[in-house]
Amino acid sequence: MMLHVPDVLTPEQVREIRATLDATLWIDGRETVGDQGAQVKRNRQLPEHSPVGRELGKAVLGALARNALFFSAALPSRFVPPLFNRYEGGEHYGLHVDGSVRTVPGTGQQLRTDLSCTLFLCDPESYEGGELEVVDTYGAHEVKLPAGDLIVYPSSSLHRVRPVTRGVRICSFFWVQSMVRDDSRRGMLFELDQTILKLRASIGERDETVALTGHYHNLLRMWSEV
Ligand code: NI
Repeated sequence: MMLHVPDVLTPEQVREIRATLDATLWIDGRETVGDQGAQVKRNRQLPEHSPVGRELGKAVLGALARNALFFSAALPSRFVPPLFNRYEGGEHYGLHVDGSVRTVPGTGQQLRTDLSCTLFLCDPESYEGGELEVVDTYGAHEVKLPAGDLIVYPSSSLHRVRPVTRGVRICSFFWVQSMVRDDSRRGMLFELDQTILKLRASIGERDETVALTGHYHNLLRMWSEV
């Protein structure tokens, strides 16, 4: 399942992050990928151990922790701390799949990448190209979101970033190990949760909504690994 999560960051938070990033040193993005990725990746990134990047990453995860829609869709268990990338002057990232297991820098802790996230930090009108294209069984989907919005999609998907031919595209990106590793089960839990919320908003809390909430939690209990 692919989901657009709007307004993860406020315009003010985006401005603060951008101001910090604009004053920071960027390195070749090939330092954080394996051999296949290195062949097709042309962009720049903040170094993985950058203290500035770490602080900004904490701010991103702090904002996400308050986002109920993201939690409902991702059911996050663990995160690889957010990284930041920058594309300009024709830079792009060719078709690839994200590595299935990643080590959290500085901890040696490994996690399975169930979900990939891209948080857009530039106004889409300010640059040409730079669409994230995600390919799944229903075809290719192009994503280019307002600053502060996030896209979450299965890490098993092939994807690419189209060349940025004008302006600059800056994003934060990171991976999530979900409590529910199977994408279709996670998707069903999301649909059920969102339907219960809508039902509760329209008819109030009834025995039936309580019963459905019970089913939601019993399914989550059956399928989650924490
Ligand atoms: Ni990728």
